Amino acid sequence: TWTMGSFIEESIREIRQKVGEGRAICAISGGVDSSVAAVLVHRAIGHRLTCIFVNHGLLRRGEAEQVISTMREQFHIPLVYVDASERFLKRLAGVTDPEQKRKIIGEEFIRVFEEEAAKLGQVDFLVQGTLYPDVVESGTATAAVIKSHHNVGGLPADMQLALIEPLRWLFKDEVREVGRELGLPDEVVWRQPFPGPGLAVRIIGEVTAEKLAMLRHADAIFREEIRRAGLSRDIWQYFAVLPGLRSVGVMGDGRTYAHTVALRAVYSSDGMTADWARIPFDVLERVSSRIVNEVPGVNRVVYDITSKPPATIEWE
Ligand code: XMP
Repeated sequence: TWTMGSFIEESIREIRQKVGEGRAICAISGGVDSSVAAVLVHRAIGHRLTCIFVNHGLLRRGEAEQVISTMREQFHIPLVYVDASERFLKRLAGVTDPEQKRKIIGEEFIRVFEEEAAKLGQVDFLVQGTLYPDVVESGTATAAVIKSHHNVGGLPADMQLALIEPLRWLFKDEVREVGRELGLPDEVVWRQPFPGPGLAVRIIGEVTAEKLAMLRHADAIFREEIRRAGLSRDIWQYFAVLPGLRSVGVMGDGRTYAHTVALRAVYSSDGMTADWARIPFDVLERVSSRIVNEVPGVNRVVYDITSKPPATIEWE
């Protein structure tokens, strides 16, 4: 019978055979797929794997620290960490079009990754956390591009590296199980899907350092309250959005003219369709009053009650 234990053993054997004395690199994002792939390959070939973590400055609060500590302290995987926040912010300055933003981030990501990879000398393999549904999907042509997707899986086409895709026969739930078996922490194993372009597609219009700080703060409060309410595993994704909309409010006896934060939470099984999550009103109330009280520059919170279709999960 097929078990996660035997899958791991078998994969390690195959990876060793394929890599021989070669060297591999892997781009990690903190997501479950790339993390599991990295840990698995590291088990097989040890220090001949180097992970590269490009922080584009569009991550959620605490995320970069978590990735670094998991990889370095828990698994002792050689990790190159690049804080490229400034670089991405500069490229994004003045850009408001959603597709343009995605394109810039995707291109810049590859550029930074290639620069770092080049510093490592001879590398032969690229590890990717491709799953079975990704394999199937890329074989079918989509009628129209709704959003140009980018993730750390879709990397340098012209790097001339042989691919290692140890998860290509697995579904998401199986990857989570392998991750658990390998000892990855719950925060990684159960991490909600997060788009490659990160918070940039949750800030409508131009991305600035100020807006990022505001969104990160509001998002951290929402995540914390959902976790506290014990809802985090039932809801597929839950996050805050900054629509770039300001409205009038009143605080004490003063008038305010400040930002609106939108909350988005959906049930889904694959992200292709989604239903807005029926979060209890008392949880929404707590989130709303905390955000307005704790996040400077925000005076209004709204909840997105649209399903997919017709809306998409992300706002951009
Ligand atoms: P939408 O917004 O199209 O999103 O309903 C469907 C799912 O895909 C995620 N998403 C992305 N994932 N790179 C990714 O790896 C991307 O560029 C990207 N854009 C959206 C989204 O979070 C949801 O789970």
